[in-house]
Amino acid sequence: MKKIVIINGPNLNLLGKREPEIYGDKPFELYFEFFKKTFHQLELSYFQSNIEGELVTKIQEAGFEADGIVLNAGAYTHTSIALADAISAVPAPVIEVHISNVYAREAFRHHSYLAPVCKGNIVGLGLKGYELAIQALL
Ligand code: DQA
Repeated sequence: MKKIVIINGPNLNLLGKREPEIYGDKPFELYFEFFKKTFHQLELSYFQSNIEGELVTKIQEAGFEADGIVLNAGAYTHTSIALADAISAVPAPVIEVHISNVYAREAFRHHSYLAPVCKGNIVGLGLKGYELAIQALL
């Protein structure tokens, strides 16, 4: 059974409550249940942290165990060389996802330290982006 890990970064624990006009009005856990049903042939797991080092550790662990990682690193996307290094260090392919279209937002969201070291990127398609990323990893 293939293993895929979804990793969400800071403030994504607030999905459903946080700026619903941008990020939607449902908690991630609800989508995760849907993803598990849709991809029942997979071993799908989910991890969220607001702490950069915990995200690095999770990428290091999952990156040697899983067949792929779907990563929304939130604001760390735009700041974290440590996350980029972790992605480069592991063999599992990582797909970067953003719920919102970061290129239609503030200039500081236009740069991603992670994009060059990820297998691919899905931006601006809402929560559907996670589903597409899982499909792509398959
Ligand atoms: C985000 C976009 C980031 O710029 C922001 O800091 C987030 C969420 C998105 O999914 O659209 O926290 O990654």
